[in-house]
Amino acid sequence: MKVRLLDLTAQFENIRGEVMEAVTEVFESQYFILGPKVTELEERIAEYCRTGEAVGVASGSDAILLTLMALGIGPGDEVITTPYTFFSTVSSITRLGARPVFADIDPETYNIDPAEVADAMTEKTKAVLVVHLYGQPADMDPILEAARERGIPVIEDACQAIGAEYRGRRAGSMGLAGCFSFFPSKNLGGAGDGGMVATDNAGLAEDLRRLRNHGGRERYYHDDVGINSRLDALQAAVLLVKLRYLDAWSETRIANAARYDRMLGGIEELVTPAVIEGNRHIYNQYVIRVPRRDELKTFLQESDIGCEIYYPVPLHLQKCFSFLGAARGDCPEAERAALETLALPIFPELTTEMQEYVAEKISEFYSQV
Ligand SMILES: Cc1ncc(COP(=O)(O)O)c(C=O)c1O
Repeated sequence: MKVRLLDLTAQFENIRGEVMEAVTEVFESQYFILGPKVTELEERIAEYCRTGEAVGVASGSDAILLTLMALGIGPGDEVITTPYTFFSTVSSITRLGARPVFADIDPETYNIDPAEVADAMTEKTKAVLVVHLYGQPADMDPILEAARERGIPVIEDACQAIGAEYRGRRAGSMGLAGCFSFFPSKNLGGAGDGGMVATDNAGLAEDLRRLRNHGGRERYYHDDVGINSRLDALQAAVLLVKLRYLDAWSETRIANAARYDRMLGGIEELVTPAVIEGNRHIYNQYVIRVPRRDELKTFLQESDIGCEIYYPVPLHLQKCFSFLGAARGDCPEAERAALETLALPIFPELTTEMQEYVAEKISEFYSQV
């Protein structure tokens, strides 16, 4: 049997007609940049995330970058964030000349530890950039509380977490802004790159609309030095189709995760994902913690099972960030997670037989001497 880490062809086959119809409509209109499809998607996403507004941009990375730009973050400023995340959470900070300050993660959820966030705050802190890793919200209340006391905005990198919930609140709706990615592997993935910022703050939304379009309200009149980061109408058309299925797909991921939890629960060496009470984890990734991780990964790949390490090098130890002066040992939990975690296939079209095969192979690996 072959089990891919992610098989998007199965999903496409189920919605081929609707997608092709939506894409054809855009070609017939020849309206490719922003326009009515993008506006409609912005309205639908704002509704889905329970925010007042949403602004479509070219990627999740740009959603973060533009939000930081809108807040005027730059040289001399500090932004507290996690070292255990995708690269662009942190590159967005350094690109603006600001300094990322790393708060270590909670070893159970792999999300930023609120106590570490509070400890990292200084008079230079201009924002806290929280990531809801793998699709599970971080412990937001203590973070929001500590930030509110100091008047610091909280930004949510919800790129992996569309539809996730924390104590009844949607990921991306709790801080000043929520940043989303429509990279094809996300629970809501486009046919290429795309992103969105959701916010209740109308002023911020207006700033983002300007900044994503070269900083101009009116064409050829520039109030700020913005960038070209508009969402394509073709992406919006595809995403509007897929949005109708998002909840059903996420529910299937949740059911697949529960099945893995049962199948893998008996393997002593293995730690299944912990879901904090009150959280809706939408399992963009199903990540286990195991000893001999690299050997297991090779064994699974040799058995035709796709698996991946998210992420092998915590960001404070990346070569390009060495100028920050961080050292091994600075964020021990992130460093340990980088050595011990492995993502298994969890996509909605995964069959029970495929999951049984994955579980069998993992069990076989740990029963070998
Ligand atoms: C946590 C996180 N932040 C940021 C991004 C960047 O999103 P994009 O790939 O759309 O630029 C991603 C996805 O790749 C992500 O998973």
